[in-house]
Amino acid sequence: MINLSYRNSDSAIIGAEHGLDLKTEFNNHAEIISSIIKSLNQRKDKPGQWLQWMNLGYNEETVWYVKEFASMVRNRFKNVLVLGIGGSCLGSLAITEALLKPYWNLLTDEQRNNFPRIFFLDNVDPDSISGLLETLELKDTLVNVITKSGDTAETMSQFMIIRDLMQKELGDDYRKHIVATTDKKMGILRQLADQDGYKTFFVPDDIGGRFSVFSAVGLVPLALVGLDIDQIINGIKDMDLELKNTDIHQNIAAQSALIHYLMDTKKNKKLSVMMPYSSRLKYIPDWFVQLWAESLGKEYNNSGEKVNIGLTPIKALGATDQHSQVQLYNEGPNDKLITFIRVENFDTVLEIPKIFEYTGIGYLGGKTINDLINAEADSTMVSLIDYSRPTLTISIDKINEYNIAQLLYMLEVQTAIIGELYNINTFNQPSVEQAKNYIYALLGRAGYEGSAEYLREKLIIN
Ligand code: PA5
Repeated sequence: MINLSYRNSDSAIIGAEHGLDLKTEFNNHAEIISSIIKSLNQRKDKPGQWLQWMNLGYNEETVWYVKEFASMVRNRFKNVLVLGIGGSCLGSLAITEALLKPYWNLLTDEQRNNFPRIFFLDNVDPDSISGLLETLELKDTLVNVITKSGDTAETMSQFMIIRDLMQKELGDDYRKHIVATTDKKMGILRQLADQDGYKTFFVPDDIGGRFSVFSAVGLVPLALVGLDIDQIINGIKDMDLELKNTDIHQNIAAQSALIHYLMDTKKNKKLSVMMPYSSRLKYIPDWFVQLWAESLGKEYNNSGEKVNIGLTPIKALGATDQHSQVQLYNEGPNDKLITFIRVENFDTVLEIPKIFEYTGIGYLGGKTINDLINAEADSTMVSLIDYSRPTLTISIDKINEYNIAQLLYMLEVQTAIIGELYNINTFNQPSVEQAKNYIYALLGRAGYEGSAEYLREKLIIN
C-alpha cells in the first residue's frame, strides 16, 4: 500500500555529480544488504539487541488488553491527556493527527462519536501546562502517563502537578483517572502505580522509546480515541513480512536506507528532509526527526572508532514550505536528500468554484484542492531536478490505520538498516541519558552531587 520511487536520485535524472548510479549500487550492495536483513531478523529475539520492536506486529496479548481497557472506559471520559516526552509521546501524536478527523478537539461529542478529545503535554512550559489545566475538567479526564524509565523529570513533574490536583478535586476516585505505561518492574512510576493502584500497561523490555509506538506506549492513546488498532497491527505485520525480503530490489526500507547512506558517504548529503504533502501528516516528520537523530547521531562506531556520524533530519510540510524552505533546497548548498510523502487519494474531494473567470485566478475554477496539492508536489520535484537535487518519493494510497502503520514501521526498519551500514549502535542514546542526569544534578536529586558540582563550575565559567 505504500511505494517508494528513487528515480529522482539517479544520475540518469539529476546528473552524475549529485546522483547515484542506482542500478550498479543496488547490485554492488546486494550482498551486504541481504546479510543485514538476515542478521536483524536473527537477532530480534535475543535479549540486549533492542530489536523487540520488530515483534510488535505479533503481540496479540497486548492488543487484546488495550482494546479491553478502551472498551471498559468507553463513554466515561471527555478528555484523554497524554503525559510523556520524546518516544513516549511523538508516535501517538503523529498518528492521532494523521488519523483522527481534522480539528478533532473542536468537534462536538456527537461528531466524535462520543470518543474523547486528546491532548499531549510533551514539554515543561509553565504557561502551556497551566493554560491546559485551566481548560480541562479533571473529573472528565483520563490521564495516560507514559515513561519507560519511570523518572524522566519532564513527565514526572507534570504528573506530580496533575495527580495532586486530581487528588484534591476528586478524592480517592482520582486513581480511576490514571493509566500508567511504564517498565514492567523497574522505576519510580512502576512503584507509585503499584502502591496507589493505577491501571498499568508495560513497555516491553529491549524496546527504546523511539521504537515503541506500536507497543502499549502508542496503542493505549490510539485505542482510547477510537482508532482501529487491529488495522494498525495488520499494517505492521504485513510490512514486516515484506521487509523480511533480503533482495534489495524488493525491499523499500533497504533501498531508502542504502540511498541515504550512499548520498552521505559518496555525495556529501548530510541533511535529510522529510516533506509530506498533507497537513494530516505534519507530525510524522516530528516523530521521524527523533527516530533518525537519536538513532544515527553517534560519536563512536561499533569498533570503538570516533566517527561523529549522523544525518541531520529536517521537517518540512508541503505545500506550506514551498513558500519558506524550498528556495534554500533549490538554490542553497546541495547537501540534502529530500523525501516527499505523497497521498494519492484524500478522504475528501474539494472543488474550487468557477468564479472570477475573467481574472488571473480564473484557471483555478473547476479544479480541486486535491489537483492543486499534488500539482504543488510535482512542480517542486521538477524544480529540484532542474537544480540537480536528489529526492525520494514515498506514495501512500490513502491515509488510514493500515497505511500509516506501514509507513512508520518501514521508517523504523530503514533506520535499523542504515545504522548497520554505518556500523553504529542505533539503539542507544548516551547523550539523552547525559542530559537527563544533568537535570537531576541541577535540581538536587540525591546521588548526583558530583555532577552538580561540575555543572555549577561550568555554568559560572561560561
Ligand atoms: O527514544 C528514547 O529512548 C528517548 O527519547 C525517550 O523516549 C525519552 O527520553 C523519554 O524517556 P522515558 O520514556 O523514559 O520517559
